Amino acid sequence: MSRLMKAAPQTKDQAIQASVFDVARVREDFPILKQKVHGKPLVYFDNGATSQKPQVVIAALNHYYSAENSNIHRGVHLLSEQATAAYETARSKIRNFINARADREIIFVRGTTEGINLVAQSYGRSFLKAGDEIIVSAMEHHSNIVPWQMLCEQVGAKLRVVPINHDGEIVMDEYRRLLNEKTKFVSITHVSNALGTIVPVKEIVALAHERSVPVLLDGAQAVPHLKVDVQELGCDFYAFSGHKLFGPTGVGVLYGRAELLEKMPPYQGGGDMISLVTFEKTHYNVLPYKFEAGTPHIAGGIGLGAAIDYLSTLNWQEVAAHEHRLLSYATEALGAINGLRIIGTAKEKAGVLSFVFDHVHAHDVGTILDQEGVAVRAGHHCAMPVMQRFGVPATARASFAFYNTIEEIDVLVRALERVLKVFG
Ligand code: ALA
Repeated sequence: MSRLMKAAPQTKDQAIQASVFDVARVREDFPILKQKVHGKPLVYFDNGATSQKPQVVIAALNHYYSAENSNIHRGVHLLSEQATAAYETARSKIRNFINARADREIIFVRGTTEGINLVAQSYGRSFLKAGDEIIVSAMEHHSNIVPWQMLCEQVGAKLRVVPINHDGEIVMDEYRRLLNEKTKFVSITHVSNALGTIVPVKEIVALAHERSVPVLLDGAQAVPHLKVDVQELGCDFYAFSGHKLFGPTGVGVLYGRAELLEKMPPYQGGGDMISLVTFEKTHYNVLPYKFEAGTPHIAGGIGLGAAIDYLSTLNWQEVAAHEHRLLSYATEALGAINGLRIIGTAKEKAGVLSFVFDHVHAHDVGTILDQEGVAVRAGHHCAMPVMQRFGVPATARASFAFYNTIEEIDVLVRALERVLKVFG
């Protein structure tokens, strides 16, 4: 099931009446949402930066440290066995969540950034050479630009950038044109963090595969909104962060096709990634442990498993419809505000609304919204080339999760009207 969202205008009453998703009940699962900020109820619209955690995730972390804390894959004692089982069970949950073929294709990393760096350094340094080309798009997060630039410096490869149009969509004809016999890797975001664009990644993968070019997808902003099936997408690598998926910070996932992972050297050396060490030669461990040097974020992995369990209790069709309503209602409401311009008007969008005022800097917008209890992100969103493309220094960004409400968007609109009053 795909959770594509098209922004169709809706009145507030239509939006609320059409909703069968029990958002009030779901909000009860997230303790932080009851907070007040500057004396006002918190309206949390910074989900693109990090999402809030349901009580079951907090409880899983608490339980791990209260009852199971122990190192994994090492001890012969009961606690270590329990911690190992819990951590490996979380890996299986993640494999099932993204429909990978096997647990050994799921590598725990610190987050999306580390996952991409792992592929750039391990795959890239082994298989790319001077003159080869790597394709990224003009709407990438810095974490899907800089690791490839570093690789280019190291091996003499060249970065090629697919342009985006004024709606913030990939120009597919340009992508087709850039793909050539020198292309040796493609790394593209699934959903843009700055614009909300849902990228046609299945087509991007298929075109690259016609030339046997592997593709990495940055799924950081996709997994909280879309049902991801790595086999259906056909990608070779897929990276995402736990903390944007209602799980803990400091843990993330790199999915890789086993066939490629087997050929790649370790990214880091240390404990757990070896099977035998002598001073003459070290033999590496099997997948996925070959890529998991050192004690990992055990509690984080278990917490991410709990987040996935939680998500599986929700009706994703209802969630998708609810998020669609939030986005379409907000697009209509913000679009009607004098002097406000939405940046990112792609036909297919996930729950992200970036916007600018003609005469007010995004940081000032963010500061006034904060005083009204509304948390948004303001800045370049770690996507400076996107800001350059649209000729703005920064945007304010409201990013939604399924626990947000239509009423909260009304609060945002009133707070934006206050911005206009303050800045005339
Ligand atoms: N990459 C995160 C964001 O877009 C932090 O806010």
